[in-house]
Amino acid sequence: MAVFASSTLFLLLLLVCSVGTAVGGVHFSTLARTLNVTASPKQGQVLMAGVDKIRVFWGLNQTVKAGTDDAYKKVKVKLCFAPVSQENRGWRKTEDDLKKDKTCQFSLTTQPYTKNPNPSSFEYTLERELPTATYFVRVFVLDGSDTEVAYGQNTDAQKTTNLIQVIGITGRHASLDIAAACFSAFSVVSLIFFFVKEKRKGSKN
Ligand SMILES: *[C@@H]1O[C@H](CO)[C@@H](O)[C@H](O)[C@H]1NC(C)=O
Ligand SMILES: *[C@@H]1O[C@H](CO)[C@@H](O)[C@H](O)[C@H]1NC(C)=O
Repeated sequence: MAVFASSTLFLLLLLVCSVGTAVGGVHFSTLARTLNVTASPKQGQVLMAGVDKIRVFWGLNQTVKAGTDDAYKKVKVKLCFAPVSQENRGWRKTEDDLKKDKTCQFSLTTQPYTKNPNPSSFEYTLERELPTATYFVRVFVLDGSDTEVAYGQNTDAQKTTNLIQVIGITGRHASLDIAAACFSAFSVVSLIFFFVKEKRKGSKN
């Protein structure tokens, strides 16, 4: 009886586990790179989170077969960590399974896909929460069931060209805090100075 129960349990576990893996997401390596994507920052330009803007352009690569985008319904524009900012950071790790992938953590916009000879574009103010890092832009194409079917990115396959440098707010706060600390130390000193001066004046009278 116990043997029967445990083998049933084992089979059940096996079933649950295999369903679990089957439920995984779309794999990035299966997506076709059909979009031409560019972003406004110039190579080497350093941007400030919470301040600077970027403009992202996308359109069907004119070299792909006409009608390739018949099933394209939406685009999802994302900001992604470049390899240099992923090193030793498991929480930004690239996984082929898009449900597990941590490369593209920042959504800029999701919009209907427009079949248009001219590229579409979107202007985005770098959000204040962005950490200091090197990024690239990836645009995912979704079909009618919100499933990723294609993509484009503003960098090469190795993610080494046209990368975007962003300085986060926290890095800048540190220097602001130092400035504030110096300023208040200075005011305490000058307060003591005037206090002593006034006292001397008072004792002379
Ligand atoms: C557009 O497609 C051509 C041919 O497949 C490819 O060589 C080129 O790199 C693509 N351009 C972009 C921006 O993906
Ligand atoms: C890709 O986009 C760039 C900049 O928008 C444009 O100059 C180029 O012609 C486009 N290439 C293709 C293949 O669509």
